[in-house]
Amino acid sequence: MNPDPPLFSPHHKIRKSDRVRHLGQRPLVIWFTGLSGSGKSTLSGKLEEELFKRGFKTMLLDGDILRQGLNKDLGFDDNSRKENIRRIGECCRLFNDAGLVTITSFISPFREERNWVRSLFPTGEFIEVFVDTPLEICEARDPNGLYKMAREGKIKNFTGIDSAYEAPLEAELTLDAANIPLENCVQEILDVTLGRIMEY
Ligand code: ADX
Repeated sequence: MNPDPPLFSPHHKIRKSDRVRHLGQRPLVIWFTGLSGSGKSTLSGKLEEELFKRGFKTMLLDGDILRQGLNKDLGFDDNSRKENIRRIGECCRLFNDAGLVTITSFISPFREERNWVRSLFPTGEFIEVFVDTPLEICEARDPNGLYKMAREGKIKNFTGIDSAYEAPLEAELTLDAANIPLENCVQEILDVTLGRIMEY
């Protein structure tokens, strides 16, 4: 194997702190995790609307979209999912440096990868939101018919069926999204995040 190439970090004049001042907000990564069909996409979209309305600069990264572009070369075996989250983590790091409020919506089934992403950010600039919708409900919703296909063996490695989902142990927020109305869930997230974004 070739040795690692020599790499250097150039020091550019404009730094994260300059961008933060310029945008007038503290960057924050709001990381949704949960099963397919748990409500992550709906919640993350609604949350972005609410933040956007208040004038914050946001970016939303959604698994179903990223897997058609940046990550379209990846599948759903464990290693591909790890690589998916590694790339998204690196994107979040860049958006954080840009000063944005970054919202992500990925199943992100493994604790180790979620914890790695968390480790990229200063304390207070990352929050994990567990959309805790039980498998039975996600499967009954089955918005794209994928659970049915997984049960029939037509797709392999489907989260919750034949691929693991490791629920967070210490998420900043756990939402009982199956029983609590969408607006209330969004309000819970705003309660935890607005103060942080404004304190820059
Ligand atoms: S992750 O596990 O690597 O974080 P990601 O959030 O990017 O997954 O993509 C999940 C989306 O891909 C699901 O919402 C679903 O629409 C689709 N999908 C296709 N195949 C699978 C599969 N085997 N497991 C889970 N989701 C799948």
